[in-house]
Amino acid sequence: MSLDELYQELLLDHFKKPRCHGCIADASAHSHVFNPLCGDQIAVTVKVGEDKLQDIKFTGHGCSISQASASLMSELCQGKQIEVVRRFIAAFQAMMRGESHPDKQQLGDVLALEGVRKFSARIRCALLGWEALERCLNGGDSKPPPAK
Ligand code: FES
Repeated sequence: MSLDELYQELLLDHFKKPRCHGCIADASAHSHVFNPLCGDQIAVTVKVGEDKLQDIKFTGHGCSISQASASLMSELCQGKQIEVVRRFIAAFQAMMRGESHPDKQQLGDVLALEGVRKFSARIRCALLGWEALERCLNGGDSKPPPAK
């Protein structure tokens, strides 16, 4: 099996069986983002404490790339120091822009999304959940999360 096929399988697995799926009842912050081009959405809730991302969960609906990316992101970032999570976000955003980043190899399974860059219309799909997480780390949305 080629690396491309392995990555395809990994993305499909995360789409079908999303990790960290749900909503944290006593979240520190939440953020809800959507792609205006298609209406697909991701809502992220986080629990932050002792400079760590103690918990992260997401819900959403949309294309396989947006949902698999949010699942991979959540799995990677859960339990990490906030400073590390910010570096992961920067590394992922750089990868999607086709730029190098010193922490790129730390992204692990998230590297499966690098091929999305070949399809410029799908880059936004991959970034959706990461944008929601970044907004959570910057204080989150002031409005309550939309009803599920
Ligand atoms: Fe809507 Fe991917 S097509 S987020």
